[in-house]
Amino acid sequence: MVDYQVEFEASLSRVLDPVRSEMFFMQFYERFIGSDPRIAKMFEETDMGHQMGMLRESLSELREFSTSLKSNNYIVTLARIHGVRGRNVRPEFYDAWLDALVDTVQEVDPDSGLQTELSWRLVLAPGIAFMKFYHDK
Ligand code: HEM
Repeated sequence: MVDYQVEFEASLSRVLDPVRSEMFFMQFYERFIGSDPRIAKMFEETDMGHQMGMLRESLSELREFSTSLKSNNYIVTLARIHGVRGRNVRPEFYDAWLDALVDTVQEVDPDSGLQTELSWRLVLAPGIAFMKFYHDK
């Protein structure tokens, strides 16, 4: 049996280790932004240093959401920021986001394997579903 919550926690702390975290976020954004010119355009004006800190916080919020399945101000606001009245992130771009993230984990986490990749996909799925759902609401 695989405990995906435990697998995810272990991998998250390896990539957020001070020796790897900067590389992790830089490689993620490079990959994500490089995956589609429409995505690159959305980040043209963004302060990426600030954005990396925000992403770090949002990963722990999405993890929290997946265990509680209780909405809170953070996730509701994040969904609004990405929704039609905000940045208008097309729901299909979330696949590019998650693919870029798990590919980066495979590269940066020295102990990652198939189950690690699946743990990231499973743990982040509820938060992503929440954000996609509220895209046009
Ligand atoms: C579950 C997946 C995602 C998470 C956790 C996430 C997280 C965040 C966070 C924490 C912020 C900062 C919000 C703030 O200013 O308070 C942000 C901003 C932003 N996100 Fe996302 N994001 C996700 C998916 C995406 C996708 C798929 C796209 C587009 C392709 C995207 C585009 C943006 C843009 C354009 C901003 C604004 C950047 C700026 O301030 O210039 N995000 N995101």
